[in-house]
Amino acid sequence: MINGNAAAAERREPSVPVLDVRDLRIEFPIREKALVAIDGVSFSIGHGEILGVVGESGAGKSLTGSALIGLLQAPGHIAAGTIHLSGQRIDNLPETEQRRLRGKRIGAIFQDPLTSLDPLFTVGRQLTETIHTHFPSMSRADAKGRAMQLLAEVGIADPATRFDQYPHQFSGGMRQRIVIALALAGEPELIIADEPTTALDVSIQAQILALLKRLARTRDTAIMLVTHDMGVIAEVADRVAVMYAGRLVEIGPVEDIVRRPNHPYTVGLMASIPPLHRQPERLAQISGSMPRLGSWPTGCSFHPRCPHAGPRCEVSTPLLMPAGATAAACFLHQGGTAL
Ligand SMILES: Nc1ncnc2c1ncn2[C@@H]1O[C@H](COP(=O)(O)OP(=O)(O)OP(=O)(O)O)[C@@H](O)[C@H]1O
Ligand code: SF4
Ligand SMILES: [Mg+2]
Repeated sequence: MINGNAAAAERREPSVPVLDVRDLRIEFPIREKALVAIDGVSFSIGHGEILGVVGESGAGKSLTGSALIGLLQAPGHIAAGTIHLSGQRIDNLPETEQRRLRGKRIGAIFQDPLTSLDPLFTVGRQLTETIHTHFPSMSRADAKGRAMQLLAEVGIADPATRFDQYPHQFSGGMRQRIVIALALAGEPELIIADEPTTALDVSIQAQILALLKRLARTRDTAIMLVTHDMGVIAEVADRVAVMYAGRLVEIGPVEDIVRRPNHPYTVGLMASIPPLHRQPERLAQISGSMPRLGSWPTGCSFHPRCPHAGPRCEVSTPLLMPAGATAAACFLHQGGTAL
């Protein structure tokens, strides 16, 4: 890691999680009503840890990631809750400070590498300028040297030649590696990776995931890996957060979530892991689909699809509570309460 990151090193306090989200609530004001899109979501990510965030389309995975990085699209906004990065509250920072934070202390990797790369500039120039933005006192020569190191670190062979090439001269997998190098340019404590391998071939997916895992381990970076591919999660995550209709319904160590899930929705997701990581549009084991924003069912929003639902589930909302090795928001696991 480079010397300019002494402040980040000082912030590194193992007992303080890199990311701590408490009771996050995101609303969209629509026609004088506030549509709640994310409701009471809490989780943390430690140093070198990969938290997989899963759930069907519309669960609220990307909205949560966007809120962390300060990129919620208006009129969406954080209506309640707190976000701390290495102990510092960041959700209430002014826009200019949020912008400085983005890229520097929180790196982002999205599904399509082309949206993060400028086709008109060489990858070397894009990397060097990004490094300069984050470390303005660094000399041009040092920034170039650093850019070469980053290209090598993300597995780009012959960085000296590749440095002067344009994005279109790279394959999809190579481009995503360059986006990862850009995300690392500020030496971030946290990386938000939103479906980073969805657009790639399966064999390339595996390489990119292995790279992310290695980066988390060698750099101690916390990674929030958003996907609806349970196969991806089983391979690389340390812990898994399961989202449904804007809420966190289960969270726990990956082995427990995959092998011994407690929440009926997680059970359905696990039973639907398809061969070769195909993404299920619908859950094979559970009928119905994710409710649309604004028409969430009352009580436990999963109740219309849940094979175990009882009358209580239609009127009361279960809180996330310890359930064996995980925590689950389901009455079935809350003290044998009659449904
Ligand atoms: N700008 C917006 N305006 C209104 N509703 C939005 C906006 N962005 C997202 N939503 C809604 O919020 C809900 C959560 O969206 P989000 O993009 O977080 O889902 P997701 O879990 O990332 O799904 P996917 O797997 O399809 O990417 C969805 O119902 C979506 O329609
Ligand atoms: S609270 Fe009820 S409806 Fe919701 S997941 Fe548990 S059993 Fe099913
Ligand atoms: Mg998404």
